[in-house]
Amino acid sequence: MNAVYLSGSGNTKHIVTLLLNELGTNGISVPVESEDVKKALEGDEIILAYPTMFSNIPYLVRDFIISHESVWKGKKIFLITTMGLFAGDGTGCAARLLKKYGAEITGGLQIVMPDSIGDSKALKKSKEHNKAVIEKADQRVFEAAKKIREGIYPQEGLSFAAHLAGLFGQRLWFYNKTTGYTNKVKIDPAKCIGCGICAKDCPTQNIKIENGKAVASAKCTMCYRCINHCPKQAMTLLGKKLYEQPTYEKNSLA
Ligand SMILES: Cc1cc2nc3c(=O)[nH]c(=O)nc-3n(C[C@H](O)[C@H](O)[C@H](O)COP(=O)(O)O)c2cc1C
Ligand code: SF4
Ligand code: SF4
Repeated sequence: MNAVYLSGSGNTKHIVTLLLNELGTNGISVPVESEDVKKALEGDEIILAYPTMFSNIPYLVRDFIISHESVWKGKKIFLITTMGLFAGDGTGCAARLLKKYGAEITGGLQIVMPDSIGDSKALKKSKEHNKAVIEKADQRVFEAAKKIREGIYPQEGLSFAAHLAGLFGQRLWFYNKTTGYTNKVKIDPAKCIGCGICAKDCPTQNIKIENGKAVASAKCTMCYRCINHCPKQAMTLLGKKLYEQPTYEKNSLA
């Protein structure tokens, strides 16, 4: 079983790595923006994983599914989404699209992890809280892996009830946030030292260094990777001020 994932703060990458490890598969696991994606998609059984965004699929993942439409026919796809609190049908959104292209959805797993948004005060949680969330998430992955080894795939987020919960619980009200890429990444030129970390890390190549400063374009998928790794705390997206820079690595060590 191979895996393809999008991960901004590292949560989804961690969950996928742990699951593959628990399943004892020797498949490859690659980020959606990697050149090795083609190789990962050659397998018959694939895990596709991503963070929930406004109870929806990140636009880059939607784009990825559509731009590889000829690949999915007959493939067995297991969907994983990680979330801060509520996904509704976070896996179901991708499932419906993939089914349209002929994929067979084997199951879905929706795992609560620490929130990756650091420019919202309301979402900031204590280190202890985040660490406990990760421990619980790992436990859920161990349980899911045990079931999958027995041939029973979890079906989280795939039911009609989950569809309604995702749609009315959140997606409808934030629909405009996930219908395309955004130009809303803000970079404070006074703080930016032009180190290029953001440009190198961005999965959509949305950032360039011009005259020694980072400049963002309009192809942001809101993953928060650049924002959470900027050494000068120079970046924001949904909020105006940065309160923390959450990453899986930091949260797991806390
Ligand atoms: C733009 C954006 C929107 C998000 N929307 C949701 C949401 O609707 N529900 C939720 O539970 N978490 C939401 N989150 C939190 C992430 O899904 C969660 O922290 C996830 O584990 C991040 O995974 P990653 O580190 O692999 O990117 C959102 C995060 C971002 C950046
Ligand atoms: S990571 Fe931060 S400091 Fe480095 S180039 Fe990007 S915005 Fe500037
Ligand atoms: S600009 Fe930043 S938040 Fe947007 S896609 Fe690139 S790395 Fe992610």
